[in-house]
Amino acid sequence: MTDAETSRVSARWEQVSDAGTRRVGAREKVTGQARYGADHTPPGTAYAMPVVATVGKGRVTALDTAEATAVPGVLLVLSHLDHLGIAPAGYLMADGYAFQSLQPLLDDHVAYRGQPIALVVADTLVAATEAAARVRATYETEPFAVELDADGTETVLQEEALPLPFLADVVVGDADGAYERSPLRVDAVYEAGPQHQVPMELIGGVAEWRGDTLVVHEGSQSVGALRGGLARQLGIAPENVEVVAPYVGGAFGQKNSLQPHLAPLAVAARRLGRPVKLVLPRAHTFHAASFRPVSRHRVRLGADRSGRLLAAIHEVDQQASRHDLLPATYTEITSRLYDIRNFRGRQRHVRTDTQTPGYMRAPFEHPAAFALESAVDELACAAGRDPVELRLANDAVADPVTGKPFTSRHLAACLRRGAELFGWAGRSPDPGSMRAPDGAAVGWGVAAGAYPVMTVPVLARLRAGADGGVRVEVGGHEMGQGITTALVRAVAGDLGIGADRVRAVVGDTRVVPHHLTAGAWGTNSSLLAVHAALRELRERLKAPPEGPVDVAAAVRASGAEEVVAEAVTRGPGQPPAAIDRMRAGLVAPAGPDFPGHVAFSFIAHFAEVRVDPAAPRVRVSRVVSVADCGRVASPVTADAQVRGAVVWGIGAALSEHSEVDPRYGGFVNADLADYVIPVNADVGRIEVDFIGEPDFTLNPMGVKTLGEVALVGVAPAIANAVFHATGRRPRRLPIRVEDLL
Ligand code: MOS
Repeated sequence: MTDAETSRVSARWEQVSDAGTRRVGAREKVTGQARYGADHTPPGTAYAMPVVATVGKGRVTALDTAEATAVPGVLLVLSHLDHLGIAPAGYLMADGYAFQSLQPLLDDHVAYRGQPIALVVADTLVAATEAAARVRATYETEPFAVELDADGTETVLQEEALPLPFLADVVVGDADGAYERSPLRVDAVYEAGPQHQVPMELIGGVAEWRGDTLVVHEGSQSVGALRGGLARQLGIAPENVEVVAPYVGGAFGQKNSLQPHLAPLAVAARRLGRPVKLVLPRAHTFHAASFRPVSRHRVRLGADRSGRLLAAIHEVDQQASRHDLLPATYTEITSRLYDIRNFRGRQRHVRTDTQTPGYMRAPFEHPAAFALESAVDELACAAGRDPVELRLANDAVADPVTGKPFTSRHLAACLRRGAELFGWAGRSPDPGSMRAPDGAAVGWGVAAGAYPVMTVPVLARLRAGADGGVRVEVGGHEMGQGITTALVRAVAGDLGIGADRVRAVVGDTRVVPHHLTAGAWGTNSSLLAVHAALRELRERLKAPPEGPVDVAAAVRASGAEEVVAEAVTRGPGQPPAAIDRMRAGLVAPAGPDFPGHVAFSFIAHFAEVRVDPAAPRVRVSRVVSVADCGRVASPVTADAQVRGAVVWGIGAALSEHSEVDPRYGGFVNADLADYVIPVNADVGRIEVDFIGEPDFTLNPMGVKTLGEVALVGVAPAIANAVFHATGRRPRRLPIRVEDLL
């Protein structure tokens, strides 16, 4: 595609009116028409409730179900005593489908507190809940560890344990030597606590057998993984599993794979010959799926006296479970955010007795940026330089790790525009030197973020009808991020038809095979396939390659009821076998290291905090965020994604923390009363802007990624603002009042 052509693609998209496409599905959601997984209640539905282990580790030596089965309406109590005949689904990151390799209910082993040990099924939810409380387990307990420094943990180097090239330690130049020789040095340890995703839509769904076919309604980011995993677990053909998830009420990584409740649910449904519904109580979701592991970062920065970075060493310890290692990529961004010619990363896993931690929005990048961007702020103080200016002075032109060019990099523009919108020039540099009229200390902080751009194989099918409407069927998922809005706008813009004539269908294995929608790659990957399918459709409609199409006339002229076009695309340089992996429901991303270039999205956040002088409570009064995500595919939902990320960042900086108690194991604040997320009163003014520069090196739409990068850097911008307000350097998240006393 020539430059002239690509700019036309861009112009067409920008012509799409906002009418009806501001947020596809908004009306359905606010009027209660949208049906989420567990909203589905087929006739005869029975209700399930898990029983979970109340010890930190050990063995179930006896399970007394007499009282439970005596509860009126109870139909089944499944446990390891029943020989469920379920095979393991395999770990997501090891060619499997599940968030962890461990499948509960198969033996008497208890790996962590909160692990399911039985599943009660009853006619009603009330009966199932009552009976679950009446199952009595006797345990033999074993010592366990739930904290990084506890006795009994086990430490594993990632490079040795996961010998994959992209998981190797990043080593560029001679970081240790250059650090030792640096006139300015920062050496600090930062810690980001464990967190849970807590999406609004709880985990759960409905399993129903229709003949030999298992139909599952469950909110998911990967209906293909649920299909592939359940087929493997139940020993049936993948074609005999259908998973439907047109709406997902938030996921953030928690719903990226198969969870262990689903196969037992399917077994129960088969035994009973009835559909079975399970909605996990909020407390269960803290142990039934993944979470963000605690991570500890020692960062050493070496610089010349002006603050020009000469060396960085980033050593990370990340919490793991006993049974799986979550592949860590913290140093992928810390080695690239700046032009650091000497970098050494080291990523280490600490095995603890929990479920396997996993992906939670910007899983590695958020804590990594907290560590690096706090250290960079410390360096700016040491160098006596303005932190925006110091970052600009260290901007990279080419990728310091591979030497390849970036597909595009507008971090400097993000910093400059953010500084202007924020009014950064009015900052007085000394900590504690700015005051609000009410006497509160005011702090202004800045931080940058980056996130790798990845692209996955996607199949897109377009159906143009004689009525002039177009249906776009894509193997992707709508978790609220706006992918359907982007798809509708792309098709309407390309064909020059009203957005009301386009309907997007996602999240349904009955329609097309699906990619895992995660890692922020959903929109760019899906648009790439849609872009290719549109070229195909134009040919089939005998329409010119450019310009508006009279779809109704063209379809009628073809003599058929509808004209169908299909395309499968994959990431640049990605082997065709990746498409087979996608079709099988396995993870298959390409990037950020593509042949010829590397691709990242960037962002800059500016935060203002107010700290009460009497009791140092922190309030975030204002945030300005400017993102470089390539061209913005869907302005309203993109803006909302960044706003949501700022709210996430406020939570990460100031309140969200999954508490562990070494005496009991598990997570103890497992509800939304004690797991504290920001409410409206905690969120000040948020201003969002985009550079909007299309990245045509990456793909013909010029679209990079946004959902994850949006969060990266929010927490350190707030932490740096807290330092500026108080002179106290926060080195662990969340920042608590007691850290500032
Ligand atoms: Mo995301 S944390 O890859 O859903």
